[in-house]
Amino acid sequence: MTTKEKVLHKLINNKESLSGESLAKEFNVSRAAVWKAINSLREEGYFIKGTTNGGYVLEETSDLFCQSAMEDFFYSNFPQYKNSHIEVFKEIDSTNTYAKKLLNECGSLRNEKSMLSQKALFYSDSIILAESQTAGRGRLGRTFVSPEKTGIYLSIIKIPKDGIKSPSRLTALSAVAVCRAVKKLYKVEPCIKWINDIFLNKKKICGILTEGIANFESGMIDAAVIGIGINIENNPEAFKGEVSKVAGGILDSSEEKNVSRIELASFIAGEVLNILDSDEALAIEEYKKLSFIIGQTVKVRPLSSINEESYFAKAVDINENAELVVELEDKTRRTLISGEVSLCSENFV
Ligand code: BTN
Repeated sequence: MTTKEKVLHKLINNKESLSGESLAKEFNVSRAAVWKAINSLREEGYFIKGTTNGGYVLEETSDLFCQSAMEDFFYSNFPQYKNSHIEVFKEIDSTNTYAKKLLNECGSLRNEKSMLSQKALFYSDSIILAESQTAGRGRLGRTFVSPEKTGIYLSIIKIPKDGIKSPSRLTALSAVAVCRAVKKLYKVEPCIKWINDIFLNKKKICGILTEGIANFESGMIDAAVIGIGINIENNPEAFKGEVSKVAGGILDSSEEKNVSRIELASFIAGEVLNILDSDEALAIEEYKKLSFIIGQTVKVRPLSSINEESYFAKAVDINENAELVVELEDKTRRTLISGEVSLCSENFV
């Protein structure tokens, strides 16, 4: 930990004012080094009040975004996941890319008896959180614009002991979990566009990119990285062109302006981990209720067959694996495991 991180951690965990001298003594650095750390934290946006006795205190209104704030908040609200490994970055290329790198560095995730390795057990339920991404990735090779301050970007690593049987279900359940967290904290009613987009008042406030780590020997998907990008505020400077037509922020539709980013990240991660450990059939029912495309005419862009063209169909159902059932004009039905659909009605994409 750098002096800055140590000072911040101490301030977070102390409601009383702390003198520069005591901090310097505790961390075995000069008072000038403490002062430099305090100034640098203030530049980052932390409200640190200087008290009359020459001490420092962190104001409660600070929208803290750091490792210790995330650990404190997440572990105290979700003690059942107190072993989750957490890493918080100010800036990163992509939290998904980083999470996959961690998994690749583990080597084999299973031992010779097909049990999860020590490293796999360590990294399962990990949370990688970033304040901004320089190379955020979306579905279908798209870029996910990830500016600082107005959004949060996180990836959750899941390594179930029996492998992953339905990647689409994992994405769908994560979408339900995000809706639960956003509803609880912001008192709004988000809804889902199959399979991974979350909308609020006809604007996309969240996208989810789930990626798998395949085991070619067993033919299983051993691990998943669930990447979640949330727009808290609209950001016209960052959301340009096509993105500006689709993207919106939660705060465009909510009166709850004081939810901190760490609170949001903690609740999303906690709800995702909870839902993946819960009764999946019930959660899929919730997914269906939150989905707004059932009964609508959609344009389907298939992904699995390269030469197949887009076509129109009616979305009629979502099955237990979160696959979309569509009906064509001749009444034949198709079950889509992947692909992209867009609504033909006004405004939505
Ligand atoms: C989409 O809407 O196409 C999916 C967007 C997923 C974005 C998140 S942000 C955190 C994680 N890291 C990435 O690079 N992408 C996902």
